[in-house]
Amino acid sequence: MNIKTSAWITVSQNTGDICPVFKKLFAPEKEIEKAELQITALGIYHAEINGQRISDFVLAPGWTSYDHRLQVQTYDVTALLQKENDLRVTVGRGWFRSPMPGWLNSEDKQRRMAQPCGLIASLHIYYADGTEETILTDETWQWAKSRILFSEIYDGETCDARIVPADWQPVKPLKWSKDILIPQEGEEIRETERVAAKRVFKTPQGDTVVDFGQEVTGYVEITLNAYAGDEVLFDHAEVQDKDGNWYNENYRSAKAQARYICRDGKQIWHPELTFFGFRYIRLLSWPGEAKPENFTAIAVHSDMKRTGWLKSGNAELNQLFSNIVWGQRGNFLDVPTDCPQRDERLGWTGDAQVFIKTASYLFDTEKYFKKWLHDLAADQRESGEVGQVIPDLMPEAPGSAAWGDAAAICPWQVYQTYGDRTVLEDQFESMRKWVDFIGSVTQTPNLWIEHFHFGDWLGLDAPDGSYKGSSREDFIASAFYAHSTALVVKAGKLLGKDVSAYEKLHQNIVAAFRKTFPEYKTQTEHVLAVHFGLAEDAQKTADALAEMVKADGVQLRTGFVGTPYILHVLSNYGHADLAWSLMLRREYPGWLYPVAKGATTIWEHWDGIKPNGSFWSKDMNSFNHYAYGAVADWVFEQAAGIRHAEDKPGFEELIYAPHPDARLGWLQAKLDTRHGTVSALWVCQEDGIRYELETPVRTKVCLNGKETRIDPGKYTFWTEK
Ligand code: BGC
Repeated sequence: MNIKTSAWITVSQNTGDICPVFKKLFAPEKEIEKAELQITALGIYHAEINGQRISDFVLAPGWTSYDHRLQVQTYDVTALLQKENDLRVTVGRGWFRSPMPGWLNSEDKQRRMAQPCGLIASLHIYYADGTEETILTDETWQWAKSRILFSEIYDGETCDARIVPADWQPVKPLKWSKDILIPQEGEEIRETERVAAKRVFKTPQGDTVVDFGQEVTGYVEITLNAYAGDEVLFDHAEVQDKDGNWYNENYRSAKAQARYICRDGKQIWHPELTFFGFRYIRLLSWPGEAKPENFTAIAVHSDMKRTGWLKSGNAELNQLFSNIVWGQRGNFLDVPTDCPQRDERLGWTGDAQVFIKTASYLFDTEKYFKKWLHDLAADQRESGEVGQVIPDLMPEAPGSAAWGDAAAICPWQVYQTYGDRTVLEDQFESMRKWVDFIGSVTQTPNLWIEHFHFGDWLGLDAPDGSYKGSSREDFIASAFYAHSTALVVKAGKLLGKDVSAYEKLHQNIVAAFRKTFPEYKTQTEHVLAVHFGLAEDAQKTADALAEMVKADGVQLRTGFVGTPYILHVLSNYGHADLAWSLMLRREYPGWLYPVAKGATTIWEHWDGIKPNGSFWSKDMNSFNHYAYGAVADWVFEQAAGIRHAEDKPGFEELIYAPHPDARLGWLQAKLDTRHGTVSALWVCQEDGIRYELETPVRTKVCLNGKETRIDPGKYTFWTEK
């Protein structure tokens, strides 16, 4: 990559909060055939040639484990070049230098915030006469203060449109590693949808608020006529309080404000080097009368191809499906984040692990996760420990069961959905090291006992005042130890490695687990015992789970750990109607409760807004937290009935085994797989159920307790009532 022959450059004076803009003027003397720009920055950059954006990639270079890996973007800029050219690059703090995580103060955070702003680029010009020229970042570049006076991930952005960069200074060379430079690996981050403001209204307390009708992650574009010096200032919120007043306490320390000082005339602006998670904005300052046409929310995320669709005869369920998709769109901004609004927005490993199967059905996430998993491996500690968040902004925080297990679960899921084993080749060492780490820190061989864990995070059976459900932490940790070890064995065998030691380890874990935990006390404990193949009698355990759920009033008590699997366990063992009852529950706790409360994304807590309209808390109350959206994989696999045969990853062969339920009338699922599009519909009619299946591959159909094998094609089946 020839960018490595360029030099890192930086500013010659501290600019404080002001984002610098770098400039290079050049005038090629010959006819240009092609020009390619390779570029990256320490911070988020925005690049223009002759006043035109060089690409629709926003928030470049994205977010990686910057100490080890920094993506370089390559753009074809041929069409932008003229006789005389002005290349300008503005660099904001971005993820690189923002004070993340917001609530924590650590040496590592201080170190990161003190890092310099930097730019490296190389423009390669191919002339029509066959000669070539390269323009590199070097001491001939200049810098000035840009019109972006402040930009940062949590607090937002300030732009003064009156400013025209002047007082250009020579840049300084910057000593920074070039070994970290890698070609772009992930999906490009783009603006993917424009959402018009639905209404502008006054709250009872007198605030002027704009409602977009949908929670999005991105930024608001404003269009207005103004005088130079007029000020626009707005903050962001996800919900209103019970009286319809402004509420954004749940953003915690994240100010999430956009401020714009106008120039004269008609102008359009949006923040450029940061993003927000929001449905509402509050106009703290606006020149004149605000109208809906002044505001457009722009959704921004990794531009993954949509691959999965669900639709049913139940409007609320359809809204839930939409919320799950928006939850993914709002949190797949280069890194799978817990939430996009408060002072977190971090790549929590547990959340990613919980949601990855659903994510990989709804969108093509192969490239996206491969990139993030490379970061996971890069940040994995010497001991094999995997941090709580990736990129690991908390290197001093201990790994936890079900969070660190992302190291094994995520590569395996990517392989399962797409069938390409390169992800396993890339990640095998990381998977194995995670399992070895557990073995090295546990107090009891073959179990994971005594360590910090998040437990069944947000489980509803949590004791008062705790975020952790009452499932035993050692139980959860040991169950995941077994599961990750089993995945290392499977992956290793596929790759032709000798994994006999891990096979033995797995047998030992299962034996020790059964001996140590002969009884299951909570819903989540039952779920894990069955789902990870640990229960001696899976049917009996699933039946006991069903009884427990009924005794709990047909209600979930599970948290992050148990919720993704509970419906699978129920429907796999003959309790599909109970699974559907949980799925369709409109009261708290249930997936449709937030929908009934007007949610447009997935909530962190089932009762983020309580039945009386009050909030769960201001502390931990995200309204765009994708984890519980993981239920969509159950809808594809069990409800609609589409899954791949265990030994045929990538949907090379299908099993069709739907679980219809008359309460929603009909359900349709469509999935674009590596082997073609599968489409499945069932319709409950008075006298029976009609099934329509279109499959691109050989399929085993399981209906009425019978199994039939079919070839690719379109089929209709019928079962009598
Ligand atoms: C995040 C979660 C995360 C958790 C760890 C929270 O603050 O928002 O989603 O997994 O911490 O328990």
